[in-house]
Amino acid sequence: MHFDYTEEHLTVRDAARDFAQTELLPGVIERDTEAKFPHEQIKKMGELGFMGMMVDPKYNGGGMDTVSYVLAMEEISKIDASASVSMSVNNSLVCWGLEKYGSEEQKQKYLTKLATGELIGAFCLSEPEAGSDATSQKTTAELQGDHYLLNGTKNWITNGNSASVYLVIAQTDPEKGHKGISAFIVEKGWDGFVIGKKEDKLGIRGSDTHSLMFTDVKVPVENRIGDEGFGFRFAMETLNGGRIGIAAQALGIASGAYELSLAYSKERKAFGKPISQHQAIQFKLADMATQIEAARLLVLKSAWLKDQGKDYADASAMAKLYASEVAMNVTVEAVQVHGGYGYVKEYHVERMMRDAKITQIYEGTSEIQKIVISRSILR
Ligand code: CAA
Repeated sequence: MHFDYTEEHLTVRDAARDFAQTELLPGVIERDTEAKFPHEQIKKMGELGFMGMMVDPKYNGGGMDTVSYVLAMEEISKIDASASVSMSVNNSLVCWGLEKYGSEEQKQKYLTKLATGELIGAFCLSEPEAGSDATSQKTTAELQGDHYLLNGTKNWITNGNSASVYLVIAQTDPEKGHKGISAFIVEKGWDGFVIGKKEDKLGIRGSDTHSLMFTDVKVPVENRIGDEGFGFRFAMETLNGGRIGIAAQALGIASGAYELSLAYSKERKAFGKPISQHQAIQFKLADMATQIEAARLLVLKSAWLKDQGKDYADASAMAKLYASEVAMNVTVEAVQVHGGYGYVKEYHVERMMRDAKITQIYEGTSEIQKIVISRSILR
């Protein structure tokens, strides 16, 4: 057992850190305030290879391992969690799902462009009445010769408006429950596909979260991913990996807030000395550092298991559960360390506290992660 990164891991981490500092930090407060999607920045992330990091180079991807991906996710998330959620959805839900289960034609047509960030993808599982209870899909896809007719509404879709390619989960045979669910590739602009309202959110305000409406949208049969009835398994397996990305995002938000708090505590003076010399602050910093390190180990372990071809469903649920709790705890404490300054936008930590909350909700709430973990340990 060893805990060393390879040279490649360090190069990727440093490249992501440089990019975040030079391209994401300027403007991050404005994008949050104005709820502005980071179009330009995501385009550059695509050019640098951050949007399809693990995809095979034959489909224009970076051919990197999951450890490299989580290192990059952490660095991007330290600065801008709105940019990193787009990166996470594109990499671990859309690209991974298509590469693993798409047909060769689907890979050539869509994956080659998603991997470079030329196109952005969205993953559409949640519905107004099917969030945690994902088997209760109301969206239907009815086979009519060479195409399906897609009808229904999806909610809370990350990259909702900025995506061009949507992986949509729908019922093809309601009699069969989750075994009657299938997955489809849907393109923006198809007749009957309407992008609904943009959500006005507490955090990750720079990411565009929308509802989507489908009314008799014609989806060619060749755009179904895998067999009919495979859609629920497809969604679950895709989310197993997605949770590693969100765990890395949570870790990044926590470590970003911690680094700012550490620096601030050395500069800010109270009662005649830097606040870092007061034990009240020292204990907070020690708790933050310890929790972050524990979260990092869980995140890296789940990434490593995936890279080794071992089962990572439980590990990714644990990593997400714990890292998202750490993100919440650490950002709340970061605001406290900053005192009144922590409560204003200029010091970044209030945004991080707002951003942290979503990591306990999307890609499965903390309660869902506990279901996944407890079912596994009781099996
Ligand atoms: N990995 C692989 N397969 C899994 C799985 C997993 N983690 N969890 C369940 N399955 C399989 C089961 O093995 C079972 O298959 P078989 O019938 O072939 O044996 C099938 O799926 C049904 O499983 P369950 O009976 O356990 O289903 P359930 O209804 O009791 O609930 C659940 C399962 C774990 C609660 C699931 O519904 C779930 O994960 N819900 C949360 C969904 C979620 O994460 N939504 C987030 C939306 S995506 C998002 O947020 C993206 C974004 O934009 C940021």
